[in-house]
Amino acid sequence: MGVPITDTELATFEALAARRRAGEPLQYLEERIPFGPIEVTVDRRGLIPRPETEQLFALAVDAVVEPQIIVDLGTGSGNLALALKHAFPDAVVYATEISPAAASLARENSRDANLDVTVLDGDLFDPIPEHLRGNVDLIVSNPPYLSEAEIAELPADVRDHEPRIALVAGRTGDEVVAVIASEAPRWLAPGGTIVCEISEFRGPAMEELFAPLGGEVRKDLAGKDRFVIGRA
Ligand SMILES: C[S@@+](CC[C@H](N)C(=O)[O-])C[C@H]1O[C@@H](n2cnc3c(N)ncnc32)[C@H](O)[C@@H]1O
Repeated sequence: MGVPITDTELATFEALAARRRAGEPLQYLEERIPFGPIEVTVDRRGLIPRPETEQLFALAVDAVVEPQIIVDLGTGSGNLALALKHAFPDAVVYATEISPAAASLARENSRDANLDVTVLDGDLFDPIPEHLRGNVDLIVSNPPYLSEAEIAELPADVRDHEPRIALVAGRTGDEVVAVIASEAPRWLAPGGTIVCEISEFRGPAMEELFAPLGGEVRKDLAGKDRFVIGRA
């Protein structure tokens, strides 16, 4: 005979089952998820980190040697910034985030993982200290890259439960990545690297956008255009 469950355990289980029935993604119920070499807490304040973004992390690690200054734009739960701090403990890591709720989640994850990342509130590069202009060795970003039309086609668990600001960039989908491409050259150190996640449908357009940094598109494990990598 199995061990009987308590009333409290039953109530917890029923509450979780009700949330799942309402379409909430399993990862929000589980709360802790692995990302590369670390684990982060996820909840409705931030996007659930995707396997493609773990590949972005691996691409970035392979592309640089002992980076001193790292910037993650649109950090969400802090997953990328924290994994990079884990990979390069001597680097100073900044992460920016426009959603105050996501920024607070990233700060909690930084504290819980004991990985020192400075999470700054604001729009892309705006909150980065001026003295870092021309001194950043590695910029990473998984920006929102869907268009307003594309969000309607997403599965309901994503569309209705993950933050819209994490998914949709604007009318075309290129609005946020276009700002990153135009401002990155001013922030990168000579020889500095940028790696961005992109829409699978925008590979050729992204190579053009990142042409001043010699942008090259790389594919994800499903063979889809998914990353652009460039160098100053
Ligand atoms: C696709 S999510 C990525 C989250 C996390 N970096 C990851 O890879 O799982 C994009 C993140 O960028 C943030 N964001 C959107 N527009 C932004 C902007 N203009 N400046 C800074 N952050 C922004 C969103 O709030 C969201 O957290």
